[in-house]
Amino acid sequence: MANRVIVCKGCCCGNVDRGHDEVPVEFLEKVWAERNLEREAKLTISGCLGTCEMRNVVLLRTEGGRTWLGGLSEKVEYEAIVEWASNSANREGAANLPAVLEKLEFEGNQQLSLIDILPENP
Ligand code: FES
Repeated sequence: MANRVIVCKGCCCGNVDRGHDEVPVEFLEKVWAERNLEREAKLTISGCLGTCEMRNVVLLRTEGGRTWLGGLSEKVEYEAIVEWASNSANREGAANLPAVLEKLEFEGNQQLSLIDILPENP
């Protein structure tokens, strides 16, 4: 099972009209393509993941389970996600969470069905 990075850009996450921080979708897609990260972790820009109060939300899915991150706002935090994906290459399991992301982790829904979010291969 490939690692997944699911970045929410739904009704609240990244909605600047509601006063929320932007989600740097272009930056992520550009870096993913330039560094060929799709092999290490598939990037999905998703609709609402059901935890709007934690915006902006990113879900990391690995063999070991799910890691929910909320309140992303700084570019350095999105860069840390890139590093996490990159460092997960050729490893047994996922890389450790960079320190800058540890403080953003929250207890998210481990049972959330990803079928609607990732219809091609949940
Ligand atoms: S819009 Fe991101 S969790 Fe709802």
